[in-house]
Amino acid sequence: MDKLLVEGGRSLSGKVHISVSKNSSLPIMAATLLGEGKTVLKDLPVLRDIQTFKQLLTNLGGVIETKGRETLMESSSLKTFFAVYDIVKTMRASILVLGPLVARYGMGKVSLPGGCAIGTRPIDLHLEGLEKLGARVSLEAGHVLAKASRLRGNRIALPFPSVGATENVMMASSLAHGESVIENAAREPEIVDLADFINAMGGKIEGAGTSTISIQGVETLTGCSYRPIPDRIEAATYLLAALTCRSSIEVAGCIPDHILSLLEILEGLGCRFDRGENSIRIQKPVGGWEHFDSAHGVSKIIETGPYPSFPTDIQAQLMAFLTSIKGRFSIVETIFENRFMHVAELRRLGAHITLRGNRAVIEGGGELWAAPVMCTDLRASAALVLAALRAKGRSDILRVYHLDRGYERIEEKLRGLGASVERGEGPTV
Ligand code: EPZ
Repeated sequence: MDKLLVEGGRSLSGKVHISVSKNSSLPIMAATLLGEGKTVLKDLPVLRDIQTFKQLLTNLGGVIETKGRETLMESSSLKTFFAVYDIVKTMRASILVLGPLVARYGMGKVSLPGGCAIGTRPIDLHLEGLEKLGARVSLEAGHVLAKASRLRGNRIALPFPSVGATENVMMASSLAHGESVIENAAREPEIVDLADFINAMGGKIEGAGTSTISIQGVETLTGCSYRPIPDRIEAATYLLAALTCRSSIEVAGCIPDHILSLLEILEGLGCRFDRGENSIRIQKPVGGWEHFDSAHGVSKIIETGPYPSFPTDIQAQLMAFLTSIKGRFSIVETIFENRFMHVAELRRLGAHITLRGNRAVIEGGGELWAAPVMCTDLRASAALVLAALRAKGRSDILRVYHLDRGYERIEEKLRGLGASVERGEGPTV
């Protein structure tokens, strides 16, 4: 059942509950390799990437047991330190086991993750960071091998605040001998969550969330019980879905402070929100939605960047929303070299978007019409859902396996908001 059938043109209402973050859960699952004894992770989202990561850890010899909303993980008796290509090729986040394996077991081997639709996505910063900690890193026949009898703390200055490289180095440093300092570290909330998890295991990490993170290596880390943070990208996606349908909904179980850059852009366009501690409720704009639609004609340039700048993972979804607003908008993608795969598909739904290098220019305000469209990557797929929810008529969204990587029970959650969304097969309209 590899497509979503969306009957657009409806308004949404009610409340949607946000799941635990995919991009927090994956590095935290890798970090369980660092701890002796059992770890219990709570409320892990049921997603393809989470399932793939469980398979990866099981293949290494980890023991994983799911009991309701709790996942029990134990990795004290691994049978191999090799993350094989069959798994790595489907999820490049597999590289996150390299740091923990070499830190805890003295050796890790991971098939080189290929690129993906949005870019080549090298791992040079991960490997340079591990080498700075004393690992001997070699590339052989399509995989990377890292070895060290005991990692030693060091100063690692990242030329770019890479999320994955910060995570790999922070995990490896936590069991190194001595202190490490990561300079120009990524500042995303998922970095803070990973540091909090490692500290809950007995780690000594300070400064996560700032550009300088200091890690005092310890001899051992011990499994613990932990619930990762809510998914800020999912929260942003549902907010933008409702705004694209000119609807007021409540997004519950989220952390508004994690998407401040998006809220500021939207408030600059006249959107209004009631922010609670763990929820965001969309208010009707001043003068109502009719006034909102007639009042525009603005032009605005939006640029993605490392946190706390506007996140690249919300770029496609924001673009879908902007196609419905009268005005001229430029979105500049500065993180990935090919993250406009959704543009051609949005054009099929009637959007007016031109591409100039890493800049997309959106002439918003026109009507969208239903059409069959094709998913290409996770967040591009979400953008197509948002546009299809607005386009009058039935749109078939093909290859929704991309969506299932990062959105838990998406059709159920959308139906709960009043959308007409079915998962199906059969002839495409
Ligand atoms: C994480 O990917 C997220 N994935 C991505 O989310 C997110 O888009 C990205 O961070 C940026 O916020 C997970 O957390 C699992 P990076 P990651 O290392 O760690 C270059 C989603 O949709 N780079 O910060 O791979 C790289 O090519 C996914 O949920 C190097 O050059 O991101 C890219 O241009 C998509 N060398 C930029 O840095 C390296 O060694 C950002 O990459 C590493 C990265």
